[in-house]
Amino acid sequence: MAKFADNMAKRAGAFMNWVDERLPVTEFWDAHLAKYYAPKNFNFWYYMGSLALLVLVMQIFSGLYLAMHYKPSATEAFASVEYIMRDVDWGWMIRYMHSTGSSFFFVLIYLHMFRSLLYGSHRKPRELLWLFGMVLYLLLMAEAFTGYVLPWGQMSYWGAQVIINLFGAIPEVGETLTQWIRGDYFLSDATLNRFFAFHVVAFPLGLIGFVVLHLAALHKTGSNNPDGIEIKKNKGADGIPLDGIPFHPYYTVKDIFGVALFLILFAAVLFIWPEVGGLFLEHDNFVPADPLVTPEHIKPVWYFTPFYAILKAVPDKLMGVITMGASVVILVFIPWLDRSPVNSIRYKSVWDKVLLGFFAVAFVRLGMLGMAEGTPAQVWEMRLWTTVYFMYFVMLYFMSPRSKTKPVPDRVTH
Ligand code: HEM
Repeated sequence: MAKFADNMAKRAGAFMNWVDERLPVTEFWDAHLAKYYAPKNFNFWYYMGSLALLVLVMQIFSGLYLAMHYKPSATEAFASVEYIMRDVDWGWMIRYMHSTGSSFFFVLIYLHMFRSLLYGSHRKPRELLWLFGMVLYLLLMAEAFTGYVLPWGQMSYWGAQVIINLFGAIPEVGETLTQWIRGDYFLSDATLNRFFAFHVVAFPLGLIGFVVLHLAALHKTGSNNPDGIEIKKNKGADGIPLDGIPFHPYYTVKDIFGVALFLILFAAVLFIWPEVGGLFLEHDNFVPADPLVTPEHIKPVWYFTPFYAILKAVPDKLMGVITMGASVVILVFIPWLDRSPVNSIRYKSVWDKVLLGFFAVAFVRLGMLGMAEGTPAQVWEMRLWTTVYFMYFVMLYFMSPRSKTKPVPDRVTH
């Protein structure tokens, strides 16, 4: 028996050598997993990236199965989705996986981005990593927006109508631009068809491509960590960072544990409460699109509502569009607005913590207000939180180099 096992191991080794001479599999495995050293003090926040990756894969596979039965035509789309829900074997599960997946994707990405703000992961030398992340965020928004239109329900139709019409506010080119996006003079079959093409081909390909770039940039600089200390600065005689541990098996196991916890939560929502009271799947979208009947209360899905509230906070349409655009674009510049002498919030002053806290509250509160009816009192509150939102960036620029920081230890802490 032992001889047989020995023989098999020898053959497997020989086979791997044969492959390695033709494709650098072992080299890749070592460089990115077995001999890739990550800081040993990762915490809860460091689960989000691998979970986002998992959800991306889940979205691609559930989307593939949905596309087998979905019909991208204005007359058939709604009925084809109902057909998936009622008649296709396990169709309801695939669809709920996809809709739940899209909301979870944004939950994970918002936590993932917030982690960067906590620990200064966007700062030198990881600016490009952050920029690729921003491209991913924009692609994700485009993916979610085009996907939401596909069931051709009332909210798909009117949501798209409102968002596309925003481009009409741009002077001179606005009208031409909206026609170009719609592919027609009104929101029609042509629009649905092109949104389908972008949703299933262009944006997923873009997402995959930029995830590869994102991870390549991450592995060039190495991960940051909750202390914001560069582990590469403290290497042992063997050239290995003293505070680093091999990604595999240590973090593969940690990430698998995170995946297990996440899937429990995901399954609970998927099987027990997939609409989440109209938050993940809006009630109006169970009504077929009707160009003659405007829903009483048009609003985007929760993950867009912070920006929608910023749009509504400004009385002038063009200025509203510009302010909303600026609220997203300004995130791109965070690595250069943050001029603090230290990376991690752990070693920053209480005022830095208050500032970041206000920013988080403003974002969440704007999200809640964006879902509300929009009474005059709520519009005033939107204005208040929009101001707080933008003040964060101004204060970050002026306050960060001046704030009193604590001494940063040489080695990571536990
Ligand atoms: C499809 C979306 C995304 C995927 C799949 C993804 C994946 C990952 C993974 C696997 C990691 C390493 C593990 C971790 O640190 O959690 C990571 C790190 C990072 N990501 Fe993303 N990411 C995405 C979007 C974003 C976005 C939108 C941003 C910010 C704009 C961003 C910024 C970062 C940064 C700064 C790091 C390094 C963190 C550190 O070392 O402390 N990512 N990402």
